[in-house]
Amino acid sequence: ICRARLTGVGGYLPRQVITNAELAQKVDTSDEWIKTRTGIEQRHIASEDETTASMAALAAQRALEQAGVSSKEIDAVIVATSTPDKVFPAVAVQVQALLGMEKGFGFDVSAACSGFIFALATANSLIQSGSAKKILVIGSEVFSRLLDWNDRTTCVLFGDGAGAVLLESGAEDGQGVLSTHLHSDGRTGDLLYVDGGVGCAGTTQQLKMVGREVFRHAVVKLSQAVDEALESNHLTGEDVKWLVPHQANLRIIEGMAKKLSLPSDRVVVTVDRHANTSAASIPLALNEAVQDGRVQKNDLVLMEALGGGLTWGSALIRM
Ligand code: ACO
Repeated sequence: ICRARLTGVGGYLPRQVITNAELAQKVDTSDEWIKTRTGIEQRHIASEDETTASMAALAAQRALEQAGVSSKEIDAVIVATSTPDKVFPAVAVQVQALLGMEKGFGFDVSAACSGFIFALATANSLIQSGSAKKILVIGSEVFSRLLDWNDRTTCVLFGDGAGAVLLESGAEDGQGVLSTHLHSDGRTGDLLYVDGGVGCAGTTQQLKMVGREVFRHAVVKLSQAVDEALESNHLTGEDVKWLVPHQANLRIIEGMAKKLSLPSDRVVVTVDRHANTSAASIPLALNEAVQDGRVQKNDLVLMEALGGGLTWGSALIRM
């Protein structure tokens, strides 16, 4: 089987930043509360002219530049998002146009905060089956447009942004995407959701969350997903060079690091500056650690995420 290798990564964050102190002027919260419970200090918020597609295209462009690959060579674009700009066409198809692509195909993946892992798994399978050779995998979100800005229990937690990776066929033995592990359980759908599907009356289109329950599920399910990834590759936590987790809450991230016996300097953390950017958080974090030289070729990177659905999963990549 021809495995996929990761040849480029890029990110985009809106210019506008809102600090905890600024939020505290609008809702009954404090920098202290937000920082202690979540680790979040600020978030980037999209301006009116920034869309899920425009941010996705900018992140993708940077991943292509890093890999030295032209958009003309791309076979497929997969965008993980829960905040598409339109019901259809898919964001991925809009990204094709923004990148000047005239061939190939694109589609979106909806798996909330786990979306990037689901999109990565899908892209890896397409490459393994020979259906595509070069695929852009993007997570792009404008959660600021889903939030009830009067609800202090949710509006402090999220931010906007996009991250992208380029996957190409032809990884050498023991390199590239080693394995991906996907799970979902619709019975827990009422713990974290946004209503407002097409044709549904009386909806708010705003994010609702039972934070404590999500936290509880996250700790258990992410542990299982991490074990699954390591065991199926006959590896242990010690083999992991970098944990690049979904960035929802610093306490969840630190719990995972402890479980893996990873010192904090081998965990990539962006939640303090980005907050939770849902499907964009993992590629944004990976981008930061690749650009600043922390993540290097041959490093073993473990990714994990949990989100609305509930959906959850993990991925192991040898860079
Ligand atoms: N500012 C000040 N006080 C607040 C705020 C706020 N922003 N939000 C809630 N509170 C208050 C509550 O009203 C409550 O007050 P009360 O005791 O008088 O009723 C008190 O703080 C404690 O609230 P809890 O919800 O019990 O606080 P908890 O310690 O559980 O922290 C949090 C809440 C941060 C949401 C936590 O449950 C969490 O991180 N859960 C995971 C949710 C998550 O990250 N979801 C993202 C998507 S899923 C994922 O990506 C993993």
